[in-house]
Amino acid sequence: MRKDHLDRVRVPELYIGLISGTSRDGVEAVLAAQGGPLGWQVRAHIRHSYPETVATDLARLTVAGHGHFQELGQLDAAIGDVFADAVLALLHEAGLEAEAVRAIGSHGQTLHHAPTATPRFTWQIGDPFRIAERTGIDTVAMFRQRDIAAGGEGAPLACGLHAACFADGAVTRAVVNIGGISNITWLRPGQPVLGYDCGPGNTLMDAWIRELKGLPFDAGGQWAAHGKVNAELLETLRADPFFALGAPKTTGPEYFCLRWLEGRLAKATDRVADIDVQATLTEFTAGVIADAVLREQPGDHPIEVLVCGGGVRNAELMRRLRDALGAIPVLETGDLGLPAEQVEAAAFAWLARQTIHAEAGNIPEVTGAAGPRILGCIVPGARPVDGAIQKA
Ligand SMILES: Nc1ncnc2c1ncn2[C@@H]1O[C@H](COP(=O)(O)OP(=O)(O)O)[C@@H](O)[C@H]1O
Ligand SMILES: [Mg+2]
Repeated sequence: MRKDHLDRVRVPELYIGLISGTSRDGVEAVLAAQGGPLGWQVRAHIRHSYPETVATDLARLTVAGHGHFQELGQLDAAIGDVFADAVLALLHEAGLEAEAVRAIGSHGQTLHHAPTATPRFTWQIGDPFRIAERTGIDTVAMFRQRDIAAGGEGAPLACGLHAACFADGAVTRAVVNIGGISNITWLRPGQPVLGYDCGPGNTLMDAWIRELKGLPFDAGGQWAAHGKVNAELLETLRADPFFALGAPKTTGPEYFCLRWLEGRLAKATDRVADIDVQATLTEFTAGVIADAVLREQPGDHPIEVLVCGGGVRNAELMRRLRDALGAIPVLETGDLGLPAEQVEAAAFAWLARQTIHAEAGNIPEVTGAAGPRILGCIVPGARPVDGAIQKA
């Protein structure tokens, strides 16, 4: 084999993963490649905030649940530009040129996820053509749509990376991502991967403190920690039919929103103090996750819970989760080498690699799709183009 070929074989392809989750707290961007102890390694990470105007427009449209073509089209373009900016900042941080990167996997920003609508759909914006044009890098996007077209929920899609990195022959692992929504991936030795949304993650806690105090989230869960759980409200929240559904199931902040909460608050016998609502939401969220862990049959192997997503920063939520899980160990993915805030973006870098290599990105047992599918579409980056279109 020639030496230059050997060199090429040894250098792993670099991928960029981009996502802004349902918390709409900004774009996570990672540079990742095969390698390292887990098999998929993040080499650089940045968080890129939305400019104020984009954040405001996005919040207005997602809360309202509708918008004019003009607004939606402009937001799609503006968010595409923010994602492109995030790539350029990440390349700068890593000291790399665009040519070094094989492809970008861009999740985009979910505007609406409607897996139970007829016909079902999910809608992410953040124009991938602008990302490809401005970075020159091949850009894979619209990952969820193919799974939906194949009869699936289009989510969760991070399960493939969870399985690739965290599956263990001797331990059953539940990987729990606490983003706006919380989802769980079951990795059981010798058994198919399971995965579904548990229910709300941070979204209700965020919505309540935003409404009452104008803050984006309850830092460390400190407000909740000073309140009392209201047992009646907690029961009402837990009675939602979503929790009794079997997998596959996914949800979003379109459903678990302030209006959902206010409907339940209105049923309370006595007015619940604002701070106690926050405490109750924190207990409820921990319970939703703990129930998802406790209701599966663990099998013959010991269970370990691996947590990722911004929820790990909420100490009060984590304390309540650990309480509810008793003797089951709760670790963070960072303890194994993939920091909690990088996992979702790392998954979209991994999904881009799957698509570029014509490998499946979904797990049909998880999403309910008719079969494994190569996800997304590939927008070509910078390529030499042969002049103008010729007359045939
Ligand atoms: N210091 C913190 N204290 C409490 N919660 C936090 C903190 N930092 C982040 N979070 C929570 O994490 C959320 C963001 O988590 P993330 O995993 O990015 O979710 P998403 O994927 O939905 O964007 C924030 O909206 C907030 O609720
Ligand atoms: Mg986020």
